[in-house]
This record gives sequence, C-alpha cells and structure tokens, in this order.
Amino acid sequence: MELKGKNVFITGSTRGIGWGLAEAFAKEGCNIVLNGRGEIDPALIEQIKAFGVCCIAVSGDIADFEIAGAMIKEVEAQLGTVDILINNAGITNDKLVLRMTGEEFQKVVDINLGGTFNMTQHVLKKMMKQRSGAIINMASVSGLMGNLGQANYAASKAGVVGFTKSVAREVATRGITVNAIAPGFIETDMTDCLSDKVKEAATANIPLQRFGQVAEVAQAAIFLAKHPYITGQVLNVDGGMVMQG
Ligand code: NAI
Repeated sequence: MELKGKNVFITGSTRGIGWGLAEAFAKEGCNIVLNGRGEIDPALIEQIKAFGVCCIAVSGDIADFEIAGAMIKEVEAQLGTVDILINNAGITNDKLVLRMTGEEFQKVVDINLGGTFNMTQHVLKKMMKQRSGAIINMASVSGLMGNLGQANYAASKAGVVGFTKSVAREVATRGITVNAIAPGFIETDMTDCLSDKVKEAATANIPLQRFGQVAEVAQAAIFLAKHPYITGQVLNVDGGMVMQG
C-alpha cells in the first residue's frame, strides 16, 4: 500500500510506542489521528502537522464500545475514511495470579483485548465497503511465552494474537490485512517503572542484549502497512527473545 495521503488512526498515541508510530507514519506522508483517554495536548497535534500532514485528535476510552464507535464516526466525518487502524493502546497491572483480584484481571483484558475488538468492529464497517485497509494490533512477547506476574496482560495479548488471525481470515477477501506486532522490552514509560534488577534480568534474556527503541517498533508497523500480501502474521520486534518459525 502506498502510504502517502492515507489516514492512520493510532490508539494510545499521546506517548511511548503510539507517539513513535504517529511520528513515523507522518514522516511517510500519512494523516494522523491521535488518541488517548484524557485531553490531548494541542502541542502534540502541532508537532505532527509540522511534517506537512493533517492531524486531528479524538480522546476517549477504547474499552467503551459506544465511545469507540463515536470516535471512528467522528474521524470518518472529518477525514472521510480510516485507511489504517493501529490498535496500540494498552495497560499493565502486574501481580502474581494468587494475589490478583478479578477486577484487576478483567480491567487489563477489557482495555487490551476488548478495546481492540471495539475499535476493529467499528472501523471494519467502512473498510469492508472500501474493500481496502490495514489493521495492526499491538500484542506482546508476554502473550506468546507468558511472563511472571502478568497473567492478566499475557492473557489479553494472547487473545489479541488469536483475534488478529481470526479477523484476518474473515476480511481477507475484502482486501483488508490484519497483523500483529509482538514487541519485547521497548524503552517507554511502561518499562521505565521496572526496577534496575528486573531490567538487568530482562536484558540477560534478550539475545541482542538491549531493550528496543520505539522507532524500531514503528518501522515494523510501516513494513506491515505497506505489504498487501502479508496478513494474519505476528511480527516479533524483541531482540530475539522469541524465535519461532
Ligand atoms: P504507554 O503506557 O507508554 O502508553 C500507552 C498509551 O495508551 C497512552 O497514550 C495511554 O493514554 C493510552 N491508553 C491506555 N489505556 C487507554 C484506553 N483505555 N483508551 C485509550 N487510550 C488508552 O505504553 P507503551 O509502552 O507505549 O505500549 C504501547 C503498546 O505496546 C501497548 O499495547 C503495550 O501493551 C504494548 N507493548 C509495550 C511494550 C514495551 O516494552 N513498552 C512491550 C510489549 C508490548
């Protein structure tokens, strides 16, 4: 897919990987829709516009089905279409499963997996009619290999992988691709809060011996968005943590 002029909706794009995605797609000439739960700093919109593209912001909680639908409608009213949806927003709430409450489990699943479902269903209605589009879902190596203290998060991300492959099969005949990216440890606010001890232990398990950069995840998303013959795949951007074939 030629990316220039395409409209890209990135959930959770006020910081971290989502913000890196916004900058990278803007550099490719895409119009960007920023999203976060709270009000979006107008300075972020200006920074994206400086790439010479259009940028709008819609705030709202992706875990709420009605709000997700209203956000997609608002963007379609302003830009006409959403050509690429990146379901990036996600949270963690780490705790050993024996100490985890049902609410702590459910909230992570509702945002990471439920939010991905909500946004995808709403965006697909128009994409199906257009007979084109790309959806990229942010999974995680935790969803592929499990992780201590992340039963809720790993379950939600494993769910994202199954969801990605199922939807890819359902919409393939309409020219829509659906893929996932499974990042390993990437330097963002989400990993900043880890203790030095945890960071050292994590690095020791990464064949490339370092955390990844946001821009490295963004380049993987650009690769997937450009390739209409790749669908239903999980692309690991993890320094070699998970090797599968
Ligand atoms: P982050 O915590 O820095 O940013 C998350 C973004 O999502 C923020 O903009 C936040 O406002 C937004 N958000 C959270 N809940 C939301 C909701 N209900 N509705 C709308 N927006 C919401 O996270 P980071 O590190 O940039 O991660 C982005 C994605 O990548 C997440 O899905 C995460 O699970 C995944 N990931 C991150 C890794 C890392 O090492 N940083 C590793 C593997 C996966």
